[in-house]
Amino acid sequence: MNWMEKELADMTDASLMRSLRVNSLVLECPGYTVRGERLLLNLSSNDYLGLSQHPVIVEVMRETLLSEGVGSGASRLVTGNRAPYGRLEEALAGWQNCEAALVFANGYMANSGVISALVSRGDVVFSDQLNHASIVDGTILSRAELARYRHNDMEHLRFLLNKYRDKRRKLIVTDAVFSMDGDQAPLCELALLKREYEAMLMVDEAHSGGIYGRRGEGLCHELGVQDEVDVHMGTFSKSFGVYGAYVCGSRTLIRWLINKARPLIYSTALPPSLVAGISKALDMVQTEHWRRERLHEAIRLFRSSLNEAGFDVGNGDSPIVPIIIGDNDTAIRFSGALEEEGIASVAIRPPTVPAGTARIRFSLSAVHSNKELIDAAERIRTVGLQQGVL
Ligand SMILES: Cc1ncc(COP(=O)(O)O)c(C=O)c1O
Repeated sequence: MNWMEKELADMTDASLMRSLRVNSLVLECPGYTVRGERLLLNLSSNDYLGLSQHPVIVEVMRETLLSEGVGSGASRLVTGNRAPYGRLEEALAGWQNCEAALVFANGYMANSGVISALVSRGDVVFSDQLNHASIVDGTILSRAELARYRHNDMEHLRFLLNKYRDKRRKLIVTDAVFSMDGDQAPLCELALLKREYEAMLMVDEAHSGGIYGRRGEGLCHELGVQDEVDVHMGTFSKSFGVYGAYVCGSRTLIRWLINKARPLIYSTALPPSLVAGISKALDMVQTEHWRRERLHEAIRLFRSSLNEAGFDVGNGDSPIVPIIIGDNDTAIRFSGALEEEGIASVAIRPPTVPAGTARIRFSLSAVHSNKELIDAAERIRTVGLQQGVL
């Protein structure tokens, strides 16, 4: 095992080492995290709507724990399929206005399971260069050919669609909002290309579900292209504040996945208490519009404050706000200095992002107040000047 020590040392030298840090919550201070002894403003969580500590969800989970126990005991295809699953899937299909839905243990398993169930050797997956790792891994697992198109470049995608025109099955897959850049995929153009080339279209709404659409359905609904999307995937770990993932689509798709998606078939079902908690969170995502409105207000304020401070954070309107720094070492120092200023942030480095684009990725929540965000932008500016990034 000596090779490991050597490679870990090389990673440390290149400022690519990762380690686990303990973060604790203080229930009275949503939007903050405690590291060591310090309370820090948490600008690195995906709890976009501030539901992760909601007392009503906690209570529903507690009650279901008492009635259903702690674990589901088996895969859903064995004896793990308890009543809360069916209720949630029915509600999800209604929310997304589609025929059927299926819950997965998490987004990683949903993406890897769905892609490897839809395509195999002899097929091709057209995947945006900046898609999430779970999409890349699902494609590798499927043994289909990977045709990566340049980020949001529809001309490049068209070129690849022509090149692989004769493949058996074609799947175009994209994040709706890109997880490390916060920009949106051109879903309308993708829908047109999918039709023209008779491909399937899969959209990952991990960072857009709950945030866009009248009832938080996601970006596909916001843009009115939901009927062109064959596979609509999202997670419960971000806006929903809980854990797990969903796939929505036709009845045929869901029947296919129940029979072919290996992470669903060969893994124990989520605990019923969690599924009941997700159902409650889904009610809130759909009806508590003020959370979405508050989040969008926070996004506008924070983005404009950083722009005014001199950072280039683009024109996006998502809660993911990156400051691209470039080299790994400066990104780590930047994040360390922010922690000194009372802000929890993470330096995102390769291989999560392309080499030379290390960054601080801020993410906002509806629970952050205007004052907290304005103060934070001021402290980020101070650190930017100290670190020579501005
Ligand atoms: C775009 C995207 N898809 C999928 C996932 C995986 O979701 P989960 O955390 O539920 O496994 C993530 C998570 O970070 C993501 O950003």
